Amino acid sequence: MSDNPREELTNLAVALRRTVQRKKTRFLPGKKGPWLSKPLKTEISQIPPLFTPESVLSSFTDNPDLSKAERLARLRDHIGDCKRCPLGVSRIQLAFGVGNPDAKVLFIGEGPGYAEDRKGEPFVGPAGQLLDKILAATDLSRHPVEPSWKWIYIANMVKCHPMIDPSDNTKRSNDRPPTAEEMAVCSPFLLAQIRIIRPLFIVALGNTAGQALLKTEETISKFRGKWVDFTVEGGPHPIRFMPTYHPAALLRNSSLKKVVWEDMKNLKAALEAAVQP
Ligand code: URA
Repeated sequence: MSDNPREELTNLAVALRRTVQRKKTRFLPGKKGPWLSKPLKTEISQIPPLFTPESVLSSFTDNPDLSKAERLARLRDHIGDCKRCPLGVSRIQLAFGVGNPDAKVLFIGEGPGYAEDRKGEPFVGPAGQLLDKILAATDLSRHPVEPSWKWIYIANMVKCHPMIDPSDNTKRSNDRPPTAEEMAVCSPFLLAQIRIIRPLFIVALGNTAGQALLKTEETISKFRGKWVDFTVEGGPHPIRFMPTYHPAALLRNSSLKKVVWEDMKNLKAALEAAVQP
């Protein structure tokens, strides 16, 4: 405090400028935000909360006048140039999802990586190339095929690239799993995709997606290959849900290929039983 009003005003202005500066730089790439060293809890609570009320989501997820492709397109428009969490600041392109809007099988990974950030499509890097081989071996594809129940859809827990160092989105090997808070912010959009697509089966790829969707702290080795019923509020239900290893894990440890192949054979049998009269 100062007795001099002019000095007092100057001090206040300096303090105010510092506060504004601190807030402005919090989510800018180039600054290592505290979310790098600590979980995101405090940071997320400081940005405007995700506000996608049920009435907004259901206006496209459940609109009978629109095709599923149109509903997905409306959802994509609604997400827009998303900055609802810090991932939106550092990502290059949002990877919304790819495949059949009317898919019987939905694969869910953890989040885009370097290649996906550039192409704006899930699973197009090395793990994605392996996923395409796994799909081909299971007689499934992300591309249109006949009969159309073989044409699947792929999405992720988060739609933007989670980076270890968000100050440099040109770096390779800069991937990290999304945090629980990032997944929570993005989850209404994944749930809306599920409500629109209404798949019969969901395959969670890897520990992050498996744990988040099953709401468990057990690890993938415990729950992979096990079918459970999965329910989404307002969605089609129940959906048969099975986690398996992430293709990136197979690239690191090829001995996991055998169990993933078992899981894919089970998926194929269940799918064929469900679609064939
Ligand atoms: N890993 C994922 O989980 N998703 C992608 O889209 C790419 C790599």
